[in-house]
Amino acid sequence: MIKIAPSILSADFSAMGEAIKKLEKSGADLVHCDVMDGSFVAPITFGGQMVKNIRPLTKLPLDVHLMIEHPKTQIKFFADAGADIITVHYEACAKISPAYLRETLELIRSYGVKCGAVVNPDVDIERIFDVFDIADMVLIMSVFPGYGGQKFIPTALENVKKARAYADSIGRTDMDIEIDGGVNLENAAQIRAAGANVLVAGSAVFGAEDMAAAIAKIRG
Ligand code: DX5
Ligand code: ZN
Repeated sequence: MIKIAPSILSADFSAMGEAIKKLEKSGADLVHCDVMDGSFVAPITFGGQMVKNIRPLTKLPLDVHLMIEHPKTQIKFFADAGADIITVHYEACAKISPAYLRETLELIRSYGVKCGAVVNPDVDIERIFDVFDIADMVLIMSVFPGYGGQKFIPTALENVKKARAYADSIGRTDMDIEIDGGVNLENAAQIRAAGANVLVAGSAVFGAEDMAAAIAKIRG
């Protein structure tokens, strides 16, 4: 099943409650929450308080994408705030220790929250094959993280294909493969064909005149 996860990074932060309700009415499947720390990526967006305030406004799962250093130190706050899925970057974990990614995913699971690992567009997905056994989701970046509205990097589709093939080969046919960055109405079909089943879209959804139509078209 294809799921669409609009990114609230493209919403008006002063009217977030209305944006969440509109997303739900427009047929979104998840709410993608982009958390940036000003260090792993240059901008700062928001922390657990935003997730906590959004939580009572929607039944949709909250998909929290942590673009932060030292993710282990922050898991508790996002789990307590009501995140349903938390994803952490391979790059932030690998610079701490080889075991840090798995330890962080285990920590996320210990709160009863789904977990996922993220790779940037210049990282081969093979680097995280060793956590496919415990990950609920893998997130493949198709832009370098930090900003909405960037252009889709097509080589990310290689990571998508490899991820789907590897997940299938180890019997993880249930693995969610999410893609994030530059997804739009034009490229969604080839992204789905490559094997991604969760499509994040920020500007393509929030910039659309008809949000429901945009979500439906990205879903295919
Ligand atoms: C990039 C974020 C993405 C981004 C998506 O740093 O992780 O979620 O906001 O926005 P679009 O769809 O506009 O590329
Ligand atoms: Zn994101």
